[in-house]
Amino acid sequence: MSCTRTLGANALLSKQPASHLLKAFNSSLAASSPSSSLSYGTLVILRHPSPSRRQFSTTNRHPFKFTNPAPIREFFPVTHTEQIRRTPAAWSHPIYTEAEVNSVVVAHRNAKTWSDYIALGALRTTRWCFDLVSGYRHDKAFAMTERKYMIRNIFLESVAGVPGMVAGMLRHLRSMRRMKRDNGWMETLLEESYNERMHLLTFLQMAEPGWFMRLAVLGAQGVFFNAFFLAYLVSPSTCHRFVGYLEEEAVLTYTREINDIDAGKLPLWEKMEAPPIAIEYWKMPEGKRTMRDLLLYVRADESKHREVNHTLANIDYKEDPNPYSSTYKSDDRPHPNKGIQHQRPGGWERDEVI
Ligand SMILES: [Fe+2]
Ligand SMILES: [Fe+2]
Repeated sequence: MSCTRTLGANALLSKQPASHLLKAFNSSLAASSPSSSLSYGTLVILRHPSPSRRQFSTTNRHPFKFTNPAPIREFFPVTHTEQIRRTPAAWSHPIYTEAEVNSVVVAHRNAKTWSDYIALGALRTTRWCFDLVSGYRHDKAFAMTERKYMIRNIFLESVAGVPGMVAGMLRHLRSMRRMKRDNGWMETLLEESYNERMHLLTFLQMAEPGWFMRLAVLGAQGVFFNAFFLAYLVSPSTCHRFVGYLEEEAVLTYTREINDIDAGKLPLWEKMEAPPIAIEYWKMPEGKRTMRDLLLYVRADESKHREVNHTLANIDYKEDPNPYSSTYKSDDRPHPNKGIQHQRPGGWERDEVI
């Protein structure tokens, strides 16, 4: 197994004094390693594995051209061993139809209780911090580019996997500590964090973050993990509402990316193909494997997280079973499930599901 790493170039925000130092550093890197990777802002755009090892066609997958063929490297190559053929995903992803992924809408659940207002306030503060660190703005004067969106996506996905894991872990400990059943919450929460990590791994197959981004992720993860851990001990419902609001923002961001592709503002992404890890995970059908298709799938996942977390915030975390891992006495109307056939952006109300 070989995995060559190259440090990223410019600091994330160009106004920072560190950017001059980083530019100089990047120049020296470029001189010493001519073409194994293309440094692009804080990201290093990766080359994909050689065609013989690829599972899918790579035509136009990557928009960046290389004039000189160079040694191929892979960000996280598959580990080959004597005995193991393959290690499948722990949670198989449900298959979304084209109509389903296209039916996802931007939505907001109005705050009704004090808990909701606290969650919304915390979300807006968190979002302001993330926007600042990831250099995200979406207005006419500050047009987003493929690079800026990729920085944003990687940074956000790197922390998006935290809440599900923390909540699942605390539910696990609570169940053992109180010697009571968990009522099926844990699996959904851990699956959500797994899904978020798959989003991250997908974007990482397209661009490798530099050291500045890695540092930002490390700091954000450290702060967010601990803050969410403490908050979940105090009020799980408020935390799920917070995640519901966070996912509303994720749906909004990915919708903007899709709209910008449609408007011709992201030419590099227009014909770019989804990486193999994404094609396999979402079971993307032939002919529907572009970057735009990938963003539709990711957005659909975020809309599912939005619904799940708003629903979990609506029910009693102490006693109620998880509506997403339950079977129902009557089948005369839709019930929560893993798919997105019956979307409820604001979550299911308690009297509908319990
Ligand atoms: Fe995500
Ligand atoms: Fe999400």
